[in-house]
Amino acid sequence: MERSVPLMSMMAALLWLALLATATEEDRVNKSTSAADMPFWSTATPKEDEQHQFDGGFSSLDGMLQWAVGHSDPVKLKETAQGVQRLSHEELKQGQMEIKELMEKLKMPSDAELMQIAIDDLNNLSLPLEDRHRALQELLILVEPIDNANDLHKLGGLTAVVTELNNPNPEIRSISAWILGKASQNNPVVQNQILELGTLAKLMEMACSSFIEESTKALYTISSLVRDNLSGQDLFYMEAGDVMLQNILSNSSVDIRLRRKSVFLLADLIHCQLDLQENKAEPPIFSNHFFLKSVVDLIASTDLDLQEKALYAVKNLLMLRYSDALVFKEVCELDVMLSRMKQQLEQLIVYDKFKEYAMDVESLRREVELIFLGKLDKVKGIADFEFGH
Ligand SMILES: *[C@@H]1O[C@H](CO)[C@@H](O)[C@H](O)[C@H]1NC(C)=O
Ligand SMILES: *[C@@H]1O[C@H](CO)[C@@H](O)[C@H](O)[C@H]1NC(C)=O
Ligand SMILES: *[C@@H]1O[C@H](CO)[C@@H](O)[C@H](O)[C@H]1NC(C)=O
Ligand SMILES: *[C@@H]1O[C@H](CO)[C@@H](O)[C@H](O)[C@H]1NC(C)=O
Repeated sequence: MERSVPLMSMMAALLWLALLATATEEDRVNKSTSAADMPFWSTATPKEDEQHQFDGGFSSLDGMLQWAVGHSDPVKLKETAQGVQRLSHEELKQGQMEIKELMEKLKMPSDAELMQIAIDDLNNLSLPLEDRHRALQELLILVEPIDNANDLHKLGGLTAVVTELNNPNPEIRSISAWILGKASQNNPVVQNQILELGTLAKLMEMACSSFIEESTKALYTISSLVRDNLSGQDLFYMEAGDVMLQNILSNSSVDIRLRRKSVFLLADLIHCQLDLQENKAEPPIFSNHFFLKSVVDLIASTDLDLQEKALYAVKNLLMLRYSDALVFKEVCELDVMLSRMKQQLEQLIVYDKFKEYAMDVESLRREVELIFLGKLDKVKGIADFEFGH
């Protein structure tokens, strides 16, 4: 593979640079070397991604550098570093010049060029599956900086990746969805571009896949696409996204990762409703008793993460103007669930390992309880008033 050659040389150069940086500046010795300290990298900040795991490849240049350092012989590395330390200022300058020249000779392709190569590969119908997968993995890394994500559509990348959502191979579909999710995360421009390509329906179908990698990546991408985007959310409801969420949340045999992501998306959707309560009809799902009960039931989950996210979603549900406290009491038994959770947290708080977490969740639980009781009091007040007259 042609491209792997410059990559290896680049790593060698990186390693050399790392040595120079650490050996010449005392105060840097203890700091981990960061790619941002290097003169060659654009420091466009990679976006937060809720999924850090990555099977193969490097999630960032930092990661690549760490890999290079980690895979070098530490004794040799140290010797080299000591050697570098003995060099005079002029010699170091000379070394740096040589690296610069080397990098120029290598003609490091720009990110846009690298994206273009990957996209051309995707558009090549005779490309074997393995290479297609590799091209997608490269794009997954390349779309992380926001500038690259913004360039993707111009280069024909979005269309090429969206096409891959229909690939018969589920892994190809998963990674393609992941790229779209990463590129659109906190990026309204790319959100719009992808929504306009009409991908939401396909992603919803994928979210129901029995291949768990595919369903979790699709759900992650759906969340990225509709976050803070009202027309995206309208589309989501039109495609029966609420029914999808209900099916996932009410079914305890569904994979826990999918359930966590669903309840997180739900909390997000309700949060958006809170901001525009005054002038928008509520999605009917938020007053559906069966649905509300499935969400409240998650508070009893044995998965701490799911439990906390469910609590947060319940808080948002209670804060909706039209939510009915009596339904939460009589249908969902929220009071019972909350006091059971309180006991559970009291047991957890004894363990040092969980103490901080348990205290945080307890304060959220208490908050939910107060909102709930406040709302309940109001309803009771009205009822007393009506019956009294
Ligand atoms: C850095 O490492 C040196 C030697 O290992 C040590 O003496 C020094 O205290 C460390 N500096 C900091 C800021 O940790
Ligand atoms: C498409 O891929 C095949 C197989 O790798 C290669 O031989 C061919 O040159 C590629 N076509 C284009 C237009 O790049
Ligand atoms: C959401 O996406 C649509 C395209 O589907 C776009 O027209 C709209 O401006 C976006 N809204 C926000 C708030 O970003
Ligand atoms: C619940 O989820 C499991 C696993 O995904 C699935 O096999 C089953 O059909 C679902 N049950 C219902 C009632 O949807």
